[in-house]
Amino acid sequence: MIRAAVTGASGRMGKLIISNIVASDGIELSAAFDLVNIDKDAGEIAQVGNLGVSVSDIKDMERVLKESSTNVLIDFTIANATVVNAPVAASAGVDLVIGTTGFSKEQKQIIEAAVSKHGVAGIISPNFSVGVNVFFKILSEASKYLGDFDIEVIEAHHNKKKDAPSGTAMKAADVISAVLGGKDYVYGRQGLAPRNKEIGIHAVRGGDIVGDHTVLFAGDGERIEIKHQAHSRQAFASGAVKAAAWICNAGPGMYTMEDILGL
Ligand SMILES: NC(=O)c1ccc[n+]([C@@H]2O[C@H](COP(=O)([O-])OP(=O)(O)OC[C@H]3O[C@@H](n4cnc5c(N)ncnc54)[C@H](O)[C@@H]3O)[C@@H](O)[C@H]2O)c1
Repeated sequence: MIRAAVTGASGRMGKLIISNIVASDGIELSAAFDLVNIDKDAGEIAQVGNLGVSVSDIKDMERVLKESSTNVLIDFTIANATVVNAPVAASAGVDLVIGTTGFSKEQKQIIEAAVSKHGVAGIISPNFSVGVNVFFKILSEASKYLGDFDIEVIEAHHNKKKDAPSGTAMKAADVISAVLGGKDYVYGRQGLAPRNKEIGIHAVRGGDIVGDHTVLFAGDGERIEIKHQAHSRQAFASGAVKAAAWICNAGPGMYTMEDILGL
């Protein structure tokens, strides 16, 4: 039985991940962490009934992870928290599934260095849905033929999202840029803003939009739009739990959703 802990257990994603762990075979909740709801039962917070696992203070992470024999930590919090907490978990020999977005390059490197130093397995993915990872694959293929077109990435999310543009939009741009040998990015446009050969990246925020990503390839007299829309957070939560189960048998190193989905 895989023992999985969840950081951000009181958050939108954390609660859904706990309910997905409860509904999955072969994996169980070992511990939960957050800044709020300390000492309350994580199952009660996730509305799946009492699980006998209380939310621990993040300051006790190392001790709690060891005492609970946790194999893997699933983290959906904020970048400044993950960059501190993930190395603590890695040093306790715990594998990492990180869904938090908004990392700087340096923050990502700190987490990857901790994974390498402590010989654990890790995945950092801005989007755990199957559909989005196929979307990345399609973008990479389309970019081979549409490099001369103007390329824009447009994303839309709910009004509570803290970071912009989304990690998924950035990954989409990075996938395209890698195929095209490196592109500059322009974030939104205002005033005099002539178009060059950059990738434009645009963030829309409103209501309860779960997550839309469109990549527009616009040429002379025609355009292609490739679009992914998440209908609920369930797609992310089930992917993260699937990744947690997979990574526990993967051996040390950093992995991607492409590895897990066989793409
Ligand atoms: N990778 C994906 O598939 C995917 C999908 C959806 C959201 N996300 C990302 O996941 C993150 C969380 O999203 P959300 O909608 O659940 O946010 P949320 O605000 O609902 O939840 C975040 C939780 O983290 C907790 N938290 C904050 N700082 C903490 C710390 N230092 N230690 C422990 N807990 C802490 C908060 O108290 C809160 O309960 C965001 O970065 C979001 O962009 C990723």
